[in-house]
Amino acid sequence: MAKAIGFFFIIFTLRFLKMFSMLHSFGSDNHSGVAPEILDAIISANKDFAVAYGEDDLTKSLKELFKTLLGDSAEAYPVFNGTGANILALTAMTQPFNSILCPSTAHINVDECGAPEKITGCKLIALENTHGKVLPETVRKELKEFGSQHHSQVKVLSISQPTELGTLYTPSEIRALSTLMHEWGCYLHMDGSRISNAAASLNIPVKEFTADCGVDALSFGGTKNGMLIGEAVVFFREELSTNFLFIRKQNGQLYSKSRFIAAQFDAFLRDGLNIRLATHSNSMAKYLESSLEDIKEVEISRSVQTNVVFARIPQKLCEELQKLHYFYIWDQDSMEVRWMCSFNTTREDIDRFVADIKRIINK
Ligand SMILES: Cc1ncc(COP(=O)(O)O)c(C=O)c1O
Repeated sequence: MAKAIGFFFIIFTLRFLKMFSMLHSFGSDNHSGVAPEILDAIISANKDFAVAYGEDDLTKSLKELFKTLLGDSAEAYPVFNGTGANILALTAMTQPFNSILCPSTAHINVDECGAPEKITGCKLIALENTHGKVLPETVRKELKEFGSQHHSQVKVLSISQPTELGTLYTPSEIRALSTLMHEWGCYLHMDGSRISNAAASLNIPVKEFTADCGVDALSFGGTKNGMLIGEAVVFFREELSTNFLFIRKQNGQLYSKSRFIAAQFDAFLRDGLNIRLATHSNSMAKYLESSLEDIKEVEISRSVQTNVVFARIPQKLCEELQKLHYFYIWDQDSMEVRWMCSFNTTREDIDRFVADIKRIINK
């Protein structure tokens, strides 16, 4: 009898867990799984032997693929994750006595546990911004004290494209920022952890708002758009690549079986899969925004330009909704929440979500 009860308990628990594992999450595009094309690419790469540490054929041809997409100056290096890509790119661009400017909302400033400061040794200077975007006037005010031994020396401006608030810089805005930084002998870094969402939304190739706009180093994201693991650091200036192999190894971001990151990027980039996946997640955010239009309790708080919707909602609604769906409160004081769509969010997921909002409000 006890055995039978135990058996039914296990079956019930497994069913319960499965039920939850099937729920869609609006928490982050990191909550989604892996695109089937990417898994296929990993399986295809899983044959025979290959030399490790980036000396394999797949990784070598990935470097060429990045050049085809981003121009001849592009030198790409696969790494594990977005934080690693940012930190290593910044390390290559600075010395410990430098400082790095970024909007206060930047992932490097808020969500990397102080790793950029620890690893680069640089001071991070957080700038005022509008919906995650900085203006040249704001940056210009910090370009001072060059040559003074008492002050950290500004060397890099880091911007995110899209920003952490889902907004986008236009190519001319990026060009204005890079021109300003270059005038002062400094660099422009771009955190492109969702760069494919930016390209899909702007409807232009990544090259046109990076290399062509004077970006010096780019953290090129893969994971948030459907890869299993892998990002790339891309440099557009030869001098920044010089010591990068050592920097990557010393900081634990050199993957021995590099062919498996390269295989994913190949499937992701070669025929525009990245843009198709990002176009879908962007369009789901737009669909969510339009589905919320007639609900007066939900106030869209930022312009929806990529795959994320920010909204202010009543606390009671938030509490009830969080019992049914996973998402984050972005700002507790103003009750601003973040709803993020992924490459595998469906219209049905959104219809269910919006129906639940309406049901809670009308209760
Ligand atoms: C804008 C941005 N940059 C960088 C990262 C870091 O990526 P990872 O979590 O892979 O380190 C994130 C993660 O959410 C992000 O949103």
